[in-house]
Amino acid sequence: MKKLLDLISEEVTKAFVECGYDEKYGKVTLSNRPDLCEYQCNGAMAAAKEYKCAPFMISDKVAKILADVPMFSMAESVKPGFLNLKLDDAYLASYLNDMQSDEGRLGCDKAKNPKTIIVDYGGPNVAKPLHVGHLRSAIIGEGIKRIGKFAGHNMIGDVHLGDWGLQMGLIITELKLRKPELVYFDEAYEGEYPKEAPFTISELEEIYPAASGKSKTDEAYKEAALAATNELQQGRRGYRALLAHILEVSVTDLKKNYEKLNVSFELWKGESDAQPYIPDMVAKMKADGFAYESEGALVVDVKEESDTKEIPPCIILKSDGASLYSTTDLATLVMRMEDYNPDAVIYITDKRQELHFNQVFRCAKKTGIVRPETELVHIGFGTMNGKDGKPFKTRDGGVMRLEYLIEEIYEEMLKKILENQKTKDNLDISMEEAQATARKIALAAIKYGDLSNQASKDYIFDIDRFTSFEGNTGPYILYTIVRIKSILAKYESTGKSLADCRCTIEAAHNEHEKDLMLSLSRFNAVVENAYEENAPHKICAYIYELSNAFNGFYHGTKILSESDENVQKSYIGLLELTRSVLEISIGMLGFEAPERM
Ligand code: ARG
Repeated sequence: MKKLLDLISEEVTKAFVECGYDEKYGKVTLSNRPDLCEYQCNGAMAAAKEYKCAPFMISDKVAKILADVPMFSMAESVKPGFLNLKLDDAYLASYLNDMQSDEGRLGCDKAKNPKTIIVDYGGPNVAKPLHVGHLRSAIIGEGIKRIGKFAGHNMIGDVHLGDWGLQMGLIITELKLRKPELVYFDEAYEGEYPKEAPFTISELEEIYPAASGKSKTDEAYKEAALAATNELQQGRRGYRALLAHILEVSVTDLKKNYEKLNVSFELWKGESDAQPYIPDMVAKMKADGFAYESEGALVVDVKEESDTKEIPPCIILKSDGASLYSTTDLATLVMRMEDYNPDAVIYITDKRQELHFNQVFRCAKKTGIVRPETELVHIGFGTMNGKDGKPFKTRDGGVMRLEYLIEEIYEEMLKKILENQKTKDNLDISMEEAQATARKIALAAIKYGDLSNQASKDYIFDIDRFTSFEGNTGPYILYTIVRIKSILAKYESTGKSLADCRCTIEAAHNEHEKDLMLSLSRFNAVVENAYEENAPHKICAYIYELSNAFNGFYHGTKILSESDENVQKSYIGLLELTRSVLEISIGMLGFEAPERM
């Protein structure tokens, strides 16, 4: 469906042309004076220069034509030369009915030429616990992926595990110390390795920090871990088998954790999967004359004329021949181009990795790893801070693990739900339902709390604010949806059918209703914009505005006691549409609403 603003612009443009002015002046925007009008066109101000006359003369002429256009209930020319517009109520209602009949899409067109887009997010490091730094990547990436999917693109989420670094050597070293008898350490062994991993996830989670701690004080231990890492990377059989065990045990655990966050990945590839692509990639970079030796290392220059600050060369191999984070990311791109030939690859990490991605992207373009038109995008997010403005920590000052954070918010939510029960004892939900509901609201609190901020900004993780049922929060949005569901259920319980209320929306009966309708009509434009700018926060801002508009309408209108049957049907149709828009929106943000709360 065409966006309402485009339909309006079309009409206004026609009027400009009819009056003899250029079509470029007919662009309409949302009003920045909602007290005066709903839409505005400032084209006459600019046109005045070209046609050398007072802007008001132009706006006046155009307004006279628009006065006869049924789409508008008001088209006013005001000094010095603005056009103030209000939409006709019946026209707006019919636009909403069209939205409602466009089932599942509500006026949002599917991309005509779907793109293949890889979203690289999550990025957990195997065997290290997930911490809140990984939370943002998971939440934002999932949102971006879902928005793209809804827009009709082929979105492929890749978790891109950190499974190739020193942490692997550390675990192997520590394991060797504890269980030297394991067959994985016997270099002469040629048989098959056991299927079962020689450790559980809890052991693994204890081994890594222990090993990491030791390596910081014990030089020989660190040497051993580096050597083990190197041997693993060179392909020592027993170590490769251990790596496979470490991966399998960690991935099972990671999947459980991501599931709690309503986050899932199409691909579970890791840094280790890119390694086989390195030798050929390096050889080609050398043969093509892009890579050269500098201070022993192999590098590719990536600076450009227009740079205002120094962009150092991209290091491909260190002087000892070892590969680096950038090598892995480049080789991963080689693999991705081979496997999926994507139109775009979007990376979601902490913004402190900006230089790294800038170098990798330039190097990939320059050396022809990707096509010139392949879009490479880095979305760098800010830090999640505690109320003290410092990076989020546990009460005792340690790094906050993701599970604990989720648990803490869940407990808080459950407490609130149970407290509500005592006062409104007619609710009387079972403990099971209370728990399931608390999970849903907790997730909304965390995700909305994060996504409602522009990703690049630091933000304060304030549990009290995020879990509040009032204000710009996830729970407030859910509360609004639940309120609508409850009215719809009551309506149905009187024996009336919701299906009969589809596409029955009438011209607004009051101001609040019109506000709600105007807000609903913007849905397709908002989704399009959120997709184009990879900006889930735009959807958050929209559903907050929509929820406010709905609640304004709800408080000022008798819905269930409305005596005129058609008016009531129209209200119910509008509620149903509001519910759908809100539910599709939170679906894109990666959370859902309970039946009641
Ligand atoms: N594992 C990395 C980290 O914890 C994030 C990986 C991001 N993705 C990438 N392709 N580099 O910082």
